[in-house]
Amino acid sequence: MKRLLLILLSLVLPFTLMVSCQGSGGGSGVLQARIDSLQNELHSAYKPGTGAIMNTIVQPHHLKLWFAGQHRNWALAEYERQELMGGFEKVRTLHKDKPEAAAVVMIFPAMDAIEKAIREKDDQAFKNNFALLTNTCNTCHQALKYGFNVIKVPANNSFDNQSF
Ligand code: HEC
Repeated sequence: MKRLLLILLSLVLPFTLMVSCQGSGGGSGVLQARIDSLQNELHSAYKPGTGAIMNTIVQPHHLKLWFAGQHRNWALAEYERQELMGGFEKVRTLHKDKPEAAAVVMIFPAMDAIEKAIREKDDQAFKNNFALLTNTCNTCHQALKYGFNVIKVPANNSFDNQSF
């Protein structure tokens, strides 16, 4: 899909350029405006919103991290922790202008503590800091008026087709 749009864009751009250059004067302003609007379209078409990032990255990796830790599968736990972190980084970089980008730092202490627990293969520390992590999910939701989105430590593994 993205490739298709890029191909389309690469076809349309030279054509726009040709037409604008042939036009009588003032063409470069029009051309620039067209390029800007195409760039904006492309950008917003492939920029997942915070809700989508939460749903497709943060929520599943939060769950998988828990079950990997529960099974003392530390290699998988570290992988899931990094994936989860990737979701938070996306919020920071893709939504710089939104309040959640600035708020992401609140999750770092819990993430760091989990990283340490995984490294030291410390079940109890993992458990405690996962609870802290989960509370911090909710702290951010409350702070940003999404307090109705309540996250809990998972009870059941909805990813039954993956071995933990
Ligand atoms: C920096 C703030 C912040 C942190 C930290 C945060 N979230 Fe969110 N979360 C949001 C915001 C803002 C929304 C609402 C986004 C929207 O709808 O546009 C949201 C929405 C959600 C949703 C609802 C998605 C849906 O479609 O139902 C889920 C699930 C979610 N977050 C999970 C988590 C989990 C799990 C964590 C912790 C591991 C977490 N969030 C940490 C800001 C945060």
